[in-house]
Amino acid sequence: MEQRKLGATLTVSAIGLGCMGLSQAYGHQDESASVATLERAVELGVTFFDTAEVYGVHHNETLLGRALKPFRDRLVIATKFGFTYSRDANGFGEITGTDGTPKNARAVAEASLKRLQTDVIDLYYLHRADPAVPIEDTVGAMAALVAEGKVRALGLSEVSAETLRRAHATHPITALQSEYSLWTRDVETNGVLAACRELGVGFVPFSPLGRGFLTGQVQTETLGQDDFRRRLPRFQPEHAETNRKLVAVVEGVAQAKGVSAAQVALAWVLAQGQDIVPIPGAKRIPNLEQNVAATGITLTAAERETLERAFAPENVSGGRYPASFSAMSER
Ligand SMILES: NC(=O)c1ccc[n+]([C@@H]2O[C@H](COP(=O)([O-])OP(=O)(O)OC[C@H]3O[C@@H](n4cnc5c(N)ncnc54)[C@H](OP(=O)(O)O)[C@@H]3O)[C@@H](O)[C@H]2O)c1
Repeated sequence: MEQRKLGATLTVSAIGLGCMGLSQAYGHQDESASVATLERAVELGVTFFDTAEVYGVHHNETLLGRALKPFRDRLVIATKFGFTYSRDANGFGEITGTDGTPKNARAVAEASLKRLQTDVIDLYYLHRADPAVPIEDTVGAMAALVAEGKVRALGLSEVSAETLRRAHATHPITALQSEYSLWTRDVETNGVLAACRELGVGFVPFSPLGRGFLTGQVQTETLGQDDFRRRLPRFQPEHAETNRKLVAVVEGVAQAKGVSAAQVALAWVLAQGQDIVPIPGAKRIPNLEQNVAATGITLTAAERETLERAFAPENVSGGRYPASFSAMSER
């Protein structure tokens, strides 16, 4: 598979695998199917795997640690810290806030190393900036972990351009991970993508398939009671109907090209720059295989224009997050 560089330090497959859905958020999970998906990803040449302390609270890191151990040396495993959370009797978590204290940066890294069954975290992200802790203090603590050889490279998620600049002045930041897809293009206009490019920071789009919506395969009416998307404005009936019309444009481009809508959505993200490495999530092997194949699909200028015109931000109905989550982004 095509390789791309994140910052000055990491070389990864052009598409990574977002692993959150293997442990939470989008319906039923099956442990042995998840292991098979992870193994198939390695077989297909995916070298970039994305997890976090908070996914399935600890479950996702433990799963990756076990399933990816035989291939560990050739992979780049990214994890994240910085949320506080509660845990229910089944171990599932509810995010309650942020903790970017130096103490937490270290404690979570130590625990993640054990769960991931490794002696170094390739890319350690701050999941959300903590307004109670100066970013210099958080990144300073993360940099100490680099100096000790416990972490190879540092990342941030969903921060503003200004926070990125302050962090990068403290220690080089290798990657910034924020939501970016046809229907979420904030980073093009809020200065984040421009700052990444100016500073040489790689950009990792999360939810590049719009949490599945852009594939045309999600029926919002039938999402399970505990599906995270039930909480998101864009998936509510009053917005989903409008957004479905935009997805029809993706499906039209896909049909004319003989590929899937998911592949068109990913090809669009991949076309935004060589410094961009999307991490679509897929529990199912056929979905994973399709997504990996999207690295070989090139959109024409006319196709890109058709998509971009349809998905002009004013045409997308509803916010991407409820207010409690939005408040933690871009700070
Ligand atoms: N930094 C952050 O705050 C943050 C926030 C959210 C996510 N993330 C990371 O980003 C990763 C990706 O985002 P995401 O999982 O939220 O959303 P996504 O990648 O936009 O969409 C994932 C959904 O799309 C479905 N799908 C995948 N490929 C498909 C295909 N070819 N055809 C039809 N459906 C397909 C998946 O189904 P199946 O799973 O059933 O195959 C899943 O339900 C996460 O796994 C996580 O690692 C980070």
